[in-house]
Amino acid sequence: MKKEVVMMVGPTAVPDRVLQAMNKKSISHRSAEYSEIQARVSKGLKRVFGTENEVYTLTSSGTGAMEAAIQNCFSFGDEVVVPVLGMFSAQFAAMAEAFKLNVKRIEYDLGEAADVESVMAQVTPQTKGVFVIHNESATGVYNDLQAFGEALKDTNTLLITDSVSGAGGLEMKMDEWHVDVLLSSSQKALMVPAGLSFIALNEKAWKATESSNIPKFYFDLNKARSFYAKDQTPNTPAVYNIFAVDEALKMIFEEGLENVYRRHEENTQAIIDGVKKLGYSIFPRDEKHASRTLTAVYAPGRAKEIVKRLGEMGVVVNGGLPPVDNDVFRVGTMGYVYKEDVDTFLAALAQIK
Ligand SMILES: Cc1ncc(COP(=O)(O)O)c(C=O)c1O
Repeated sequence: MKKEVVMMVGPTAVPDRVLQAMNKKSISHRSAEYSEIQARVSKGLKRVFGTENEVYTLTSSGTGAMEAAIQNCFSFGDEVVVPVLGMFSAQFAAMAEAFKLNVKRIEYDLGEAADVESVMAQVTPQTKGVFVIHNESATGVYNDLQAFGEALKDTNTLLITDSVSGAGGLEMKMDEWHVDVLLSSSQKALMVPAGLSFIALNEKAWKATESSNIPKFYFDLNKARSFYAKDQTPNTPAVYNIFAVDEALKMIFEEGLENVYRRHEENTQAIIDGVKKLGYSIFPRDEKHASRTLTAVYAPGRAKEIVKRLGEMGVVVNGGLPPVDNDVFRVGTMGYVYKEDVDTFLAALAQIK
């Protein structure tokens, strides 16, 4: 049987090496053996996040880390600004509303990126946070985090960033770019099964935790901080997924972070150029803001049929998300995707008339 090419937007393909790393005997999360692994994972994640801050691993999908950011850094009624560019940034806004924050949404047309000027026009001295999505997986649009960090760095407002579909595939410099809270999850560029999320806070964000009045327990990051001091977590972590992250990080560093970023860039550009040659366009309005970990391809009225036909040819990609599910399909270049996979995808797409 022909090998399946998995180019999903997440969960992404898991390399055999990572799967094998999970094939181990069970160990206690209170053992020295475990602590050694957690410490190594944490050190590796700091390199991926571009930070000297501790990166906490939570046993949850990415949404859990989003909740943790809100529960720990904010209080009921806090004013926050959320640029909404698609389903996942909309989820962040909805979650903030569920926690009774005072959310100022800025709605962009689907396919557009958030521009700093229009966001900053809504930020007042009362604004406690701006929630910027690094890479909107629904529309394949990438935001310029560095510009947001620059605009917010000398204010009392926190820059909270969801890089669920960015970190590990897109360059990330949390400290240099003045990102105050950064979160991501395991099942995307990190090539690990779903089940873990990651979050880091800088000093400005830790300070905000001191006055937060939202109830928290499982995702209490100050509690996590005290356990991390001895390389443990407060509760039982998904130890097998942590074995997997450990191995995936080894693979990433063997290849070299810069080379990993370059591979994502080149593969994504090859997809953008290739689909255009085949008569399609990309969904992002401006190619400058087209994601480098996934491509949202515009195929009006044909997206579902194309995903089905590609699947029959052994190429697994994702459909679009409402409201553009009939018109857009999404191809992941995140994580374990190489040039041969891109070539196979384009050759299969070329056969669909
Ligand atoms: C950008 C972004 N944010 C948040 C999420 C939610 O993450 P999870 O499904 O891991 O909870 C996703 C999931 O695809 C995502 O792509």
